[in-house]
Amino acid sequence: MEYDRPLFYHVMKYAAASQRDTVDMVSGNPDWGPPDALREGLIDYADSDPSQFQYPPSEGISPLRREIADRRGVETERVIVTNGAGEANHLSMATGLAAHSGTEVLLADPVYPYYSGRTTLLGATPTFVPVDEAGQLDPDDVRERASEETALIVVNTPNNPTGAVYGPDAMTEFVAIAKANDALLVSDEVYDHFDYTGEFESALSIDSDHRVVTNSFSKSLGITGFRVGYAVLPERLIEAVRTRHMLTNVAGSRPAQRAVYRALRETDRSYYERNRDRLRERIETFTQTLDAIGADYTRPDGGFYVLARFEEFPGTLENTKRLIDEAGVAGMPGEAFGQTRADWLRFALVTPRVEDATTRLEAFVSGRS
Ligand SMILES: Cc1ncc(COP(=O)(O)O)c(C=O)c1O
Repeated sequence: MEYDRPLFYHVMKYAAASQRDTVDMVSGNPDWGPPDALREGLIDYADSDPSQFQYPPSEGISPLRREIADRRGVETERVIVTNGAGEANHLSMATGLAAHSGTEVLLADPVYPYYSGRTTLLGATPTFVPVDEAGQLDPDDVRERASEETALIVVNTPNNPTGAVYGPDAMTEFVAIAKANDALLVSDEVYDHFDYTGEFESALSIDSDHRVVTNSFSKSLGITGFRVGYAVLPERLIEAVRTRHMLTNVAGSRPAQRAVYRALRETDRSYYERNRDRLRERIETFTQTLDAIGADYTRPDGGFYVLARFEEFPGTLENTKRLIDEAGVAGMPGEAFGQTRADWLRFALVTPRVEDATTRLEAFVSGRS
């Protein structure tokens, strides 16, 4: 698989060049806008003293690190603010590979493609563990494949693309397997505000120096362009991650961090609840249509993606393009995420046009039958 330019960009470009109006269900960009306090934080920043326009501390501005640490119930020193969860994942994986003797990375299949691309980029070897029918990674399967060769186990909960959410038992198992094999569990929790089951358990609740939690505000505050994320690290990896971060970035962006800090302080629960409710409704609308047209699908327990499979219409890149051309709906081909869901298509529900998409999919499917 080619990772220089993920398939994602290819599909986006194809959809943008299409002659017909297309509902974009490719990207993971929230459409509902940030909380007001975020904009106020930015405006406030623009008016601040020039000293505030200079380098921030490399590991993140102190109020933001403290705020994150308080919310996550950890010491501030353990939090490093990064350029989105993307950088937090990169630093955690690179540092984990350097700190452990193995060179193998255990990844779920299907998987968010940046992990597999990054594994190869870092000179490690991915081993894919297929998820079950419901899209869940079974800890027993992970245990079976883990060995002294394993340096990293990467899990993502709630999951992109399957919508799986892992509860306390599974997370405890994942951490224990990492520890037993002298490996590091990297738990990417960027969709933690989008749990529809109440089952979600952060890996942070399992005390261990064999796990890192990565997260960001890209999805929870609807600001994928701001690039503010963080890693919560075990003591033994803090210095190595801090150094990598500093030598790569010098520091993160101060205005973005200031605005996020303000948003965290001044945004109440209702903002997050509204967004969850909105997504619940969209999932309902979309899956009702999938039922009506007889498509297979995985109902997400969390996150904002639905994987669906249409009869005699495998989710190849070619069929993804046909769906854009003939239905005006753009999804992601399942093959972008690995082997086990290569026949499926992934639809992102971060668009106000989910109903349009359902009407178009119904017309497309009935036109083919
Ligand atoms: C599982 C997962 N991790 C990380 C990211 C990237 O997050 P960020 O924008 O914070 O870098 C995404 C973006 O879609 C994602 O789906």
